[in-house]
Amino acid sequence: MMPRQGAALITGGARRLGRAMALNLAARGYDLIIHYNSAEEDAQALSEEASNFGAAVHLVQGDLSDASFMQNLLPQAKLLCPHLNLLINNASVFFPVSLAETELDTLDLFFSMHLKAPLILSRDFARLCEQGNIINMVDSLTLKNPVTYLPYILSKKALVDLTELTAKALGPQIRVNAIGPGYILPPVTGNADVGERWIKRTPLQRSGEVTDITAALNSLLDNPFLTGQILWVDGGHRL
Ligand SMILES: NC(=O)c1ccc[n+]([C@@H]2O[C@H](COP(=O)([O-])OP(=O)(O)OC[C@H]3O[C@@H](n4cnc5c(N)ncnc54)[C@H](OP(=O)(O)O)[C@@H]3O)[C@@H](O)[C@H]2O)c1
Repeated sequence: MMPRQGAALITGGARRLGRAMALNLAARGYDLIIHYNSAEEDAQALSEEASNFGAAVHLVQGDLSDASFMQNLLPQAKLLCPHLNLLINNASVFFPVSLAETELDTLDLFFSMHLKAPLILSRDFARLCEQGNIINMVDSLTLKNPVTYLPYILSKKALVDLTELTAKALGPQIRVNAIGPGYILPPVTGNADVGERWIKRTPLQRSGEVTDITAALNSLLDNPFLTGQILWVDGGHRL
């Protein structure tokens, strides 16, 4: 069995890319705190699967747009796993909203998920954990400015900036990097032919695999001289 490498808190970690990163980390010897909101069954199934790698797995349920839950999450994770040394800000909401359709509550939701929660969790990680890594999940679409997703794009751009600012603020004890996926998994609510259109405009002529994301995660964790790096994992689509 792998010696324990530390412990990771993954927000929105029960399904899809969060799940893949969790299993990858369990195989690398991390214990896990999997935060989820609605995906209880998936979280339970992931917990069993990750335990097979010898990982201690803790599940924490809550809505990250609820300020009191969000502010308590990192202290709770640190109590569950005192050896916490990795935070992955992965939880996200993704749906089209144009400028004309943007209302204050929609704006609040996108900015709570993609800026406020990552910022407060990063602050608390720095306060409570002596050293480690923070990984923010951004999106290579931020480089294409699709205005049909205006508040989503704006909030993920803010997360790119937060990555650079916190990398500068938190060194040398804490490295902060981001992964910017292209089209890896179809959106939960989305249009089936988006993937084909995306592939046609992508130099590498395919969509991504979850293993492309876990490989990016591993390379950010394994290179001790990387901080403030945004690793675009998009087959060149942004170009
Ligand atoms: N999939 C892609 O191809 C792709 C492309 C570009 C960028 N990304 C980025 O990569 C990351 C992972 O992608 P993904 O597609 O796996 O993400 P996702 O399925 O869209 O979202 C991840 C999780 O966020 C959680 N979440 C949503 N609203 C929440 C709330 N109010 N409070 C707490 N948690 C909430 C959900 O948890 P529950 O299910 O438990 O409710 C969901 O499973 C995201 O940050 C995404 O923006 C992904």
